[in-house]
Amino acid sequence: MIKILFVCLGNICRSPLAEAIFKQKITQNGLESKISCDSAGTANYHVGETPDPRTIDVAANHDVPIHHFGQQFKKHHESEFDYLIAMDRSNRMNMIRELGGETDSLFQMRDFDVEAKGEDVPDPWYGGMNGFEDVFQILDRSTDELLKFIKEKHGL
Ligand code: 4NP
Repeated sequence: MIKILFVCLGNICRSPLAEAIFKQKITQNGLESKISCDSAGTANYHVGETPDPRTIDVAANHDVPIHHFGQQFKKHHESEFDYLIAMDRSNRMNMIRELGGETDSLFQMRDFDVEAKGEDVPDPWYGGMNGFEDVFQILDRSTDELLKFIKEKHGL
């Protein structure tokens, strides 16, 4: 099983949405027995919580099922997942601090965005629904490429 962990700050907006979108693509591609994914946040503010209502709304608007309870990113995740995907530079730095150094399994989500490679997935927390729709589009595009990358790399 190839395991992917999406990571943001609070684990209630960006990363659970990335997880939900990617899970749907895994299912649509019939790859449930090959690839799995989960999400976490570098902060502990929302551990045990369901996603932000705006995250749930934007997922519902696009018919993407979303089910997640917040968890904090910890060092043990490094050995449990093949790919650790940070939503932005700040998450990436926090992850490196938690891990005690860089690791080859660490990527940023928009490394896979054909329209804006290497940019941050913006934090939508303080904005309105427009920001959540933008994030959805970014994640939808980026997870398409991520899936292509994983399929090619692992011969799926
Ligand atoms: P996320 O968004 O990192 O995409 O889940 C945030 C959620 C909560 C907070 C910040 C960002 N917060 O400060 O509580």
